[in-house]
Amino acid sequence: MKLLSVGVVFVLVPALLPALDPLSASLFMGGAAITWQLFSSHSWLKCRLLECCNAKDTLNFSVVKTDLERKVFGQHLAVQLILIALSTNIHSKRPKKPLVMSFHGWTGTGKTFVSSIIAENLYQPSTSRRRFVHHFDTALHFSHASHVHLYKEQLQDWIRGNVSACPRSLFIFSEMDQMPHGLIDSITPFLGYHEEMDGVYYGKAIFIFLNNAGGDKITEIALDYWRSLKGREDIPVKELQHLLSKEIFSNTNSGFFQSQLIQKNLIDYFIPFLPLEYEHVKQCVREELRAQGHPEDEDLITEIALAMTDYPSEERLYSSKGCKTVASRVTLST
Ligand SMILES: Nc1ncnc2c1ncn2[C@@H]1O[C@H](COP(=O)(O)OP(=O)(O)OP(=O)(O)O)[C@@H](O)[C@H]1O
Ligand SMILES: [Mg+2]
Repeated sequence: MKLLSVGVVFVLVPALLPALDPLSASLFMGGAAITWQLFSSHSWLKCRLLECCNAKDTLNFSVVKTDLERKVFGQHLAVQLILIALSTNIHSKRPKKPLVMSFHGWTGTGKTFVSSIIAENLYQPSTSRRRFVHHFDTALHFSHASHVHLYKEQLQDWIRGNVSACPRSLFIFSEMDQMPHGLIDSITPFLGYHEEMDGVYYGKAIFIFLNNAGGDKITEIALDYWRSLKGREDIPVKELQHLLSKEIFSNTNSGFFQSQLIQKNLIDYFIPFLPLEYEHVKQCVREELRAQGHPEDEDLITEIALAMTDYPSEERLYSSKGCKTVASRVTLST
């Protein structure tokens, strides 16, 4: 019977596997899923037979804080909320539910960048990140709307198997706005308040969703504040979070359209990424020049930042691409 369960997992997974990196895939095939199926109630046996994660793998909070505050420009709201979210989960001995954050904002505002900073600092440098960090690119991994049923089962198996082996697993779902309708609700059971489910404890897992949906709403609010001569620092984060949850629930292209995850309040934090202004783009250009080993040419910095701040067409206050094309512009101009 047990062998049969292993076989079921084995059969279901291949359609998802080719899209994931080979090491994660083989670890999953050889490790987590089978481990979960065979030894779910014998964690000591599980850890003797297979590589397991333990408490010393946990995030170095002060490093992540310094990195976010130093490297991320113009996102004081996002950084502030993410630090609260991480510290609450990480400093709790046995969190009641996994940490679930949904990042929203225009392209190039730093959503993927911030999630990489978290992923890089979540574990000790000596441990292989591939064992813990699972990145799903919706456009790549869930591209066929007709396969939703299969994806649902694979996603559940993947999460269950990996959290079983590594409780502090990080799951990042990018391009949520392209997620087939209903797919994300398949992970609802894992995100709720449960002591354990089938012998697996999910409270230390972290889920991050990256989404362009809600970006226009965030920009609209930021612009209203600017037009009424108030700073972006004055935007009340609670109000923005509430508006975001409403917006993405009713937006058919958000991946969360009428989603149970929102209905059941399982997303702990809606994180707004504000549109980037001229000064922030300048900071990105400066950073990129440094990274590419060029001197900080003030004229070039101003030229690129001016060209990129294009929205709204009259005021030209924000960069509609954020800092996304900064690297290529610097390469072309140097
Ligand atoms: N707020 C920021 N602070 C510093 N650098 C940034 C910021 N936003 C973007 N960048 C730079 O621009 C690059 C592209 O940004 P990133 O990929 O994080 O955008 P994104 O919000 O994920 O966009 P998309 O919605 O298109 O996926 C980053 O790798 C980083 O170098
Ligand atoms: Mg991104």
